Amino acid sequence: MSAADRAPRAADAQGPLDHLLDRNVAWAQRRTRDDPGYFLRMAGLQRPRYLWIGCSDSRVTANDVLDLDPGEVFVHRNIANIAHGSDMNLLAVLEFAVETLAVEHVIVCGHYGCGGVARALCSERSALVDHWLQPLVMFHHKHRAAFDALPEERARLARLCEINVEMQVRRVAMTPIVEKAWRRGAALHLHGWIYGMDDGLLRDLGPTLSSLAARDALESIDERVLRPREACAGVRRHAIAAFAGAGLGAAGDGTGSAGSGSIGK
Ligand code: CO
Repeated sequence: MSAADRAPRAADAQGPLDHLLDRNVAWAQRRTRDDPGYFLRMAGLQRPRYLWIGCSDSRVTANDVLDLDPGEVFVHRNIANIAHGSDMNLLAVLEFAVETLAVEHVIVCGHYGCGGVARALCSERSALVDHWLQPLVMFHHKHRAAFDALPEERARLARLCEINVEMQVRRVAMTPIVEKAWRRGAALHLHGWIYGMDDGLLRDLGPTLSSLAARDALESIDERVLRPREACAGVRRHAIAAFAGAGLGAAGDGTGSAGSGSIGK
């Protein structure tokens, strides 16, 4: 290699990602200006109370949609927020979150309009991602008639996005890591949420599980496809709880109505 080859080319003098590094410097300066002790605190131990298992989709970032600072949520993301029982990446994250960080809540969060879930609905196969999505593909095949009965493609996708969240919460609940935590009496709560791209709101789909007994009492996921749960927006759930406390006859926990796809998409 000649000296000329080693010399930076004109185009590299300004690196292609310098705009990102510039943004990083500006961000760090802003943080320090607003809160001089910010990075000193960040350099200490992280003590997040939540583990987020979400989709890799660039539009659904846990800290942003939860409006949480760095350090407040431990995050694992993959295509279509799938919890494979043999995924060492997920299991290592889950184990560390439960055993070491002692998180209190594990949130599986899907989103409407998920491209990974949409792939499971189409007939195209051949990529590695199709192996990744196999549990969803199999579920869709098994319940093809129920999905085909939905009025339009959009509703079918919304329904599979929702049922995928429920399915993955159950899979997390079946891991030996969570079983062990529940057996020793740890306060560990699993949640199933879904995010609406078009309004930025999180919806509580359930199931919310806090014990082996609650997990084992769940009806079959095959039943769930025929009786979808109404996706209850977080803001609405708060309102329901407030009215219930005031004895004003709230509408229960928002479950049981046929609201598939009616909220969000
Ligand atoms: Co997605």
